[in-house]
Amino acid sequence: MRILVTGGAGYIGSHTVVSLLDNGYEAVVVDNLVNSSKKSIERVEQITGKKVTFYEADTLDRKAMDEILDKEKIDACIHFAGLKAVGESVKKPWEYYENNIQGTLVLVDALRRHGVKNIIFSSSATVYGEPEFIPITEQCPKKSCTNPYGWTKSMLEQILSDIQKADPEWNVILLRYFNPIGAHKSGLIGEDPNGIPNNLMPYITQVAVGKLKELGVFGNDYDTVDGTGVRDYIHVVDLADGHVKALDKIKENCGLKIYNLGTGNGVSVLQLVKAFEESTGQKIPYSIKPRRAGDIATCYASAELAEKELGWKAKYGIKEMCEDSWRWQSSNPNGYRD
Ligand code: NAD
Ligand code: UFG
Repeated sequence: MRILVTGGAGYIGSHTVVSLLDNGYEAVVVDNLVNSSKKSIERVEQITGKKVTFYEADTLDRKAMDEILDKEKIDACIHFAGLKAVGESVKKPWEYYENNIQGTLVLVDALRRHGVKNIIFSSSATVYGEPEFIPITEQCPKKSCTNPYGWTKSMLEQILSDIQKADPEWNVILLRYFNPIGAHKSGLIGEDPNGIPNNLMPYITQVAVGKLKELGVFGNDYDTVDGTGVRDYIHVVDLADGHVKALDKIKENCGLKIYNLGTGNGVSVLQLVKAFEESTGQKIPYSIKPRRAGDIATCYASAELAEKELGWKAKYGIKEMCEDSWRWQSSNPNGYRD
């Protein structure tokens, strides 16, 4: 099968392309490189010894999408392309709604006109808002999001569900990711944020590599094990493999399906710092800062449905996530930049 991977040069996309190629799929990547580098694709080819067809194109570009789909015989699409910075989305809502929502509408239209009615969409645990119960199952009601980025995910879930309902030839799988961290074992691909990282693990690794002085821990007065925020960190390679399993489901003509991709384990900020220090030998100085607006205390998945229906379960633990994040950061202190 030949898979169109939008956003395939990005963090999760590049790891998923490796998993696809390792599992006998062919990958056609479309990325406008707004938040990534073409080097990631070269590294993917280096890791797998296989060729990736790459188009530098924007999912908003109707003509480009048509041309690519005219040329390539595609069986299914894994749609990662999107802007994802929570804080930036608050400042630039129009840009986020246009890029993420319009970009998906154009893509989906081009896909259906080319008879490709199989899509796997990158959603997020953010759609659960302040979750009604924990561990979060897929039955947990969706709530208000605290930022435009989150709303794009929530709205796109609705849009794709409605499209599938109106035309049952579509197979749509919404994957709600928890917190991906880690990197490929080779240390050749990983997360490469622009500027100062917003997310915890890239911040920790940049402190470890000496680019940042100390970690600010956003709040230690939550109702959690040690007062700091609890999340479900998942190794990006496990997450990538989840997409390969979802493709198997698509082959069964599954209609609309929704799965959490998490480990089912909650880890606090200070627990992650400690695990990083223990598994890498790097000291992470930190200080307690006020809570960050929009953060919730605890968010972790029930990963049972994905195990039952996709036969997928996360294999890697926090230790490997820390070791692999560090291997990537320490061998590429400036990410893909020279
Ligand atoms: P990323 O920024 O590394 O990857 C996204 C890729 O999409 C980038 O390579 C970017 O250049 C590309 N892109 C953006 N807009 C585009 C457009 N209009 N046309 C073509 N390419 C475009 O981010 P990531 O962490 O790999 O995330 C991938 C997907 O997973 C995103 O949709 C993100 O919202 C979602 N997600 C990520 C997380 C996370 O914590 N990383 C959590 C939940 C969901
Ligand atoms: N944190 C710090 N200091 C930092 C960064 C983060 O203490 O410098 C804390 C946060 O307060 C939170 C935890 O670390 O308790 C994790 O924060 P991240 O920013 O790494 O992740 P979030 O859970 O806030 O958000 C991530 C993605 C969102 C996605 C969400 C749910 O960034 O896009 O997971 O999937 F929507």
